[in-house]
Amino acid sequence: MSVMRLVLAPMEGLADVHLRRLITAQGGFDWSVSEFVRVVDRLYPARVLYGICPELRQGGRTDSGTPVRVQLLGSDPEAMAANAQLAVRLGSHGIDINFGCPSRTVNRRNGGAVMLQEPESLYRVVSAVRAALPPAVVVSAKMRLGFDDTSLMLDNAAAIEAAGATELTVHARTRRQGYAPPAHWHELARIREHIRIPLIANGDICSVADYHRCVAVAGTVDVMLGRGAVRMPSLARQIRENAAVESPWQAIAPLLREFWGQVSAALPPRDRIGRIRQWVNYLRQRHPEAELLWQTIRQESDLQRLEAVLP
Ligand SMILES: Cc1cc2nc3c(=O)[nH]c(=O)nc-3n(C[C@H](O)[C@H](O)[C@H](O)COP(=O)(O)O)c2cc1C
Repeated sequence: MSVMRLVLAPMEGLADVHLRRLITAQGGFDWSVSEFVRVVDRLYPARVLYGICPELRQGGRTDSGTPVRVQLLGSDPEAMAANAQLAVRLGSHGIDINFGCPSRTVNRRNGGAVMLQEPESLYRVVSAVRAALPPAVVVSAKMRLGFDDTSLMLDNAAAIEAAGATELTVHARTRRQGYAPPAHWHELARIREHIRIPLIANGDICSVADYHRCVAVAGTVDVMLGRGAVRMPSLARQIRENAAVESPWQAIAPLLREFWGQVSAALPPRDRIGRIRQWVNYLRQRHPEAELLWQTIRQESDLQRLEAVLP
């Protein structure tokens, strides 16, 4: 079996710099991808990229040294290329291009998954970004299986490869399927056979067993982990170690206090409460202890009281 690559997924509004720092510190990830930068028709000032990806101020790596790749979303080839150049100049470890975002607002402006209806539009954007960057810089793309259905799936993957992308990540659902289970890993095997660049499988890989099931079906050992890593921050390390036993709550609970310290230093009070609630809401899907904590904090709006109940 070739060496696996494990990637922390971009998750806008969830896996920001704080959660990226904590999750990548648990080990096992080769790189992570930033939340998307929505490019319309112009070059952003550097502060916009620093805002979305503060790791650019420290060599484009999280505190634990995991490289971060800035993700761009948009359909204007020139503007995408110009922002890609800026991101790389600021320290991004390559560029990822988002062809999967299902948001209606984003899709209305012709960005994200809507582009999957026109493989040529993917080709134009990827080739413009590719041409704007030195050959050694990675240009990856992330797509879904399609917009309404999978009829253009192979054409889209081929267009991305032909345009010079180095890797392709596929979230194994169409836009229409949203986030509803299951992820259709078997479709990834068809893409795997159709392209030669590395394929990174994504969608619903939440345990070591899921990883093995996905690898067996999709035929690639490289995966991107999203919500599974939010619920179980040590997931990548467990997959890498092929761990038979999952990390207990006692190993995860201290991270909540660490997270609280980080968001307290960076965010206004209301946002801190929102962020901790959001994470506990994910954690409770996996850990009964987090469910108990959730019941205590779900309505709590007092900072001191909330802090006092954190483990
Ligand atoms: C809250 C949230 C925000 C997301 N934001 C992004 C994003 O900015 N860019 C992107 O390519 N995908 C985004 N995604 C999709 C994830 O990267 C991933 O493809 C999807 O969640 C399926 O993988 P998972 O089951 O491992 O979470 C987001 C998903 C969630 C749940």
